[in-house]
Amino acid sequence: MSDIYSVIIYPILFILPAYVANGAPVLFGGGRPIDLGRKLGSKPVLGKNKTYRGLIAGILVGTLIGFGESYLLPFMLAIAIAESLGTHFGDLFGSFVKRRLGMKSGQSNALMDQYLFVIFAILFAAPLGHLPEIWGIVFILIITGTLHLLTNTVAHRLKLKEVPW
Ligand code: CTP
Ligand code: MG
Repeated sequence: MSDIYSVIIYPILFILPAYVANGAPVLFGGGRPIDLGRKLGSKPVLGKNKTYRGLIAGILVGTLIGFGESYLLPFMLAIAIAESLGTHFGDLFGSFVKRRLGMKSGQSNALMDQYLFVIFAILFAAPLGHLPEIWGIVFILIITGTLHLLTNTVAHRLKLKEVPW
């Protein structure tokens, strides 16, 4: 059944914890880098922008969103935990790949920056069921690129982020 709820509203509620888990580090991140400044050959393992505080804040705040949503949709707490872990797994994996390709921290890569986190969030949540229907997933992928651009531009204007991507 394809209606506004199952293609638009539910997919937004479903993926919201991942978006928040991904965005929270911009506000709460900083401090000790996860790779502790270590390098692999001549390149950083993950880079200075991936910090413990950002990781932990992202997972906690993403989970909190799911806790709030669970009043409406009880299964969303577990899904939010899975999505938050998936988001940050994807985020760290993306940075790892970017560093191997010789890209500097913060340097833009559409696939790695915009889609990897959401793809891993969905993959981590999938075993728990309740995935949106296929057009809902398509909707999520479409708004992900758009939203990422928008929020990063705002974060850059507010001087929360060095670069607008
Ligand atoms: N951040 C953090 N800890 C994390 C993830 C992100 O502190 N685990 C913060 C950093 O201040 C980072 C900002 O959130 O600069 C934006 O995150 P993101 O865009 O994912 O990182 P980039 O700066 O683009 O770095 P990279 O090139 O490694 O993706
Ligand atoms: Mg980035």
